[in-house]
Amino acid sequence: MSQTLAIIKPDAVGSGKAGKILAHLEDVGFTVKALRLTTLSREQAGAFYAVHEGRPFYDELVHFMMSGPVIPMVLEADDAVARLRETIGATDPAEAAEGTVRKLYAESKGRNAIHASDSDENAAQEIAFFFSRHERLGL
Ligand code: CMP
Repeated sequence: MSQTLAIIKPDAVGSGKAGKILAHLEDVGFTVKALRLTTLSREQAGAFYAVHEGRPFYDELVHFMMSGPVIPMVLEADDAVARLRETIGATDPAEAAEGTVRKLYAESKGRNAIHASDSDENAAQEIAFFFSRHERLGL
């Protein structure tokens, strides 16, 4: 078993899709190990996406991610990082496979419903960004 981080983004929380997305993730076999609803400050959103700083979409991304509540969560499964990325689909919903979370619920490349870590190393960092050791491991 391994863990990854997902964030249900402000577009999906605001349009009342969070419950459906969470059910979808559980239905495909993920176990929720930690979860909260929070609204990110500019500093938090900027720090979380610091890897994209300088890219043309960075300011819009930060602004969007602080525009309303988000739901970060730790998900556990075999090969969690790869399985979650497969489950959510391509960044742009127009390119996402049928049945993926983004195909079903995302509005656009920017407002794309959900974030998922892209490597085990980034998953560990992103999980630690939101959750204490006690929250994610129950220890
Ligand atoms: P996410 O998986 O959260 O990681 C970075 C986010 O930047 C991505 O999803 C998109 O929502 C957002 N984004 C906006 N524009 C672009 C773009 N042109 N290329 C890649 N990501 C983009």
